[in-house]
Amino acid sequence: MGAIPTVSRGTRVVDPVLAGTEPAIRVLAMPADTNPTGDIFGGWIMAQMDLAGGILASRRARGRVVTVAMNAFEFHHPVYVGDLLSCYGRVVRVGRTSLTLHLEAFAERAAELGQVVKVTEATATFVAVDEQRRPRPVPPLDAPTDEPAPGA
Ligand SMILES: CC(C)(COP(=O)(O)OP(=O)(O)OC[C@H]1O[C@@H](n2cnc3c(N)ncnc32)[C@H](O)[C@@H]1OP(=O)(O)O)[C@@H](O)C(=O)NCCC(=O)NCCS
Repeated sequence: MGAIPTVSRGTRVVDPVLAGTEPAIRVLAMPADTNPTGDIFGGWIMAQMDLAGGILASRRARGRVVTVAMNAFEFHHPVYVGDLLSCYGRVVRVGRTSLTLHLEAFAERAAELGQVVKVTEATATFVAVDEQRRPRPVPPLDAPTDEPAPGA
């Protein structure tokens, strides 16, 4: 996969998405994403969380991953048309081939400028897989990469 954008924190170089300081995805909730009563459909929010988790897991696993489980979804507040949904996550457990993430989604309300509400959270497990879709070990964090050194 391509180079991952990084920022320096002291001497440590961190991926801001993996560190949870930047969202893995940010997307506008559209009228086509609503349920019959006009709020945003929970299944659409779950799909965004799955996408965000997949991005995070793939960065940490440095390659292809598949979703094996999505658990403990909690919908705290509704999402409305026009809200900007941002999905953040962090890796809470690394197994041999699997990674478990805690995911959170925040809605920036269209109706009230600057109001940001945590709307959903979930736990998701992904498995790193090879080209034949077989589980492969998650590389250690400090494994060498083919990415250019920061500042290079
Ligand atoms: C994910 C998949 C590759 C795992 O294959 P498998 O033969 O069951 O592999 P294993 O039994 O060796 O399990 C692999 C890892 O997943 C974990 N795992 C399996 N099922 C799990 C579950 N329900 N919840 C959490 N972790 C699970 C195992 O504990 C293991 O983790 P570890 O290596 O860190 O200890 C296979 O089940 C699969 O392809 N599922 C479909 C994935 C998919 O299509 N997702 C939706 C679209 S991305």
